[in-house]
Amino acid sequence: MDKLIIKGMNPIKGEVSVSGAKNAVLPMLCASVMVSEGFVTIKNVPHLHDVTTTVRLLNQMGVTVTMDEEMNIELDSSTMNNFYAPYDLVKTMRASILVLGPLLAKFGSAKVSLPGGCAIGTRPVEMHLNALAKMGAKIDISNGYISASCNQLIGSDITFPQITVTGTENLLMASSLAKGKTVISNAAKEPEVVDLANFLNLMGASIKGAGTDVIEVEGVDTLKGIAYSALPDRIETGTFLVAAAITGGQITIKNAIPSHVEIVIEKLKEAGAEITTTESTISLDMKGKRPRSVNIETGPYPLFPTDMQAQLTALNSIASGMSTIKENIFENRFMHVQEMSRMGADIKLNNNCAIVTGRTELVGAPVMATDLRASASLILAGLAAKGVTEVERIYHIDRGYDCIEEKLKQLGADILRVPM
Ligand code: EPU
Repeated sequence: MDKLIIKGMNPIKGEVSVSGAKNAVLPMLCASVMVSEGFVTIKNVPHLHDVTTTVRLLNQMGVTVTMDEEMNIELDSSTMNNFYAPYDLVKTMRASILVLGPLLAKFGSAKVSLPGGCAIGTRPVEMHLNALAKMGAKIDISNGYISASCNQLIGSDITFPQITVTGTENLLMASSLAKGKTVISNAAKEPEVVDLANFLNLMGASIKGAGTDVIEVEGVDTLKGIAYSALPDRIETGTFLVAAAITGGQITIKNAIPSHVEIVIEKLKEAGAEITTTESTISLDMKGKRPRSVNIETGPYPLFPTDMQAQLTALNSIASGMSTIKENIFENRFMHVQEMSRMGADIKLNNNCAIVTGRTELVGAPVMATDLRASASLILAGLAAKGVTEVERIYHIDRGYDCIEEKLKQLGADILRVPM
């Protein structure tokens, strides 16, 4: 196991390219099992543990996966021989539930381990299962596994009681090969959902309305292999913007889609950053200033992303003034608060709210990463802190950030990965 050693207070300065979006690539990898002819090639794939885990999962189902050195992944599902997602893989990555819809739709059979809870909350999947059951799947849960079967899924009207990103994606994939029309209401509008819909449409699916509350899917008989480049990662984009803002630095992010991080840009402007954008770049200049505190309330896209909450908590911990951070998506997504407190942050928790009183400085300390975005926030806190911060359990960061310490090093950070 490795740890990161960060010597803080070096302003982040320079240019960085963001990688492809983890949460777009994972459903696309799963959707690749649905093609009847040809191969699927996914480009702009980030180099991440979650990608490797998904590839292992598909591999053990018999999918032939090849990767080149640029991380273009080619998937041949004609060699598939089982429809089973075992506990030992699913437990390390909840997104494995994304194989359920594709397997059911294409093969009429799937056995997938229940994902269980995780550090950020209980995260059940009953909305995925209820929706698939409404489409005619027979679903049985026993011994920690979901066993699902059907002759053919039947198009249906599905209204999600609460917005769910992977639930919407599972349904999009499943309904693409269902008989007849599916209408998904209260659908997630995240850019990754839209990217998946574009990907499926190129494969031959008929999906309209992705990116709005109501998505209509007309089932088709077959899908074909395609090549597709995933969209850039908006959470990585936002994390690098905060890295510059928290250190009083200046950054230009390349290969980004500014409209996908509009609310993050708005909040960072409120914090005092000067930000300009072009079609594919975002430049932020903090001019050496201390940020001002900003209030945050998380919600489904286009509201403020829960996946950026921990990073903004780090920013507020050294900002001038007080702020309130309200987490509305996951019930336990404040694990970073305790660790930041060990660095001198003044944060009080009250149910799903954190009240942050900005300190003039944080002081480096050994801290422990508890989940992916919490890890990112501790690195950010370490970049701004006086002295040395050691972030342990960084396997979490490798699940979702492509070469983060190399990219930060290029930007002037003093950061080193060492074995523990
Ligand atoms: N929920 C239920 N029942 C369900 C499904 C969801 O109660 O059947 C609840 C969840 O517990 C949560 C809320 O609904 O309280 C929304 O969860 P959602 O289903 O939207 O989350 P997800 O699809 O499991 C994806 C991302 C997460 C991101 C959330 C919210 C992927 C692979 N994961 O998770 O990404 O935080 O949407 O935007 O797309 C991350 O990248 O660090 C990450 C955790």
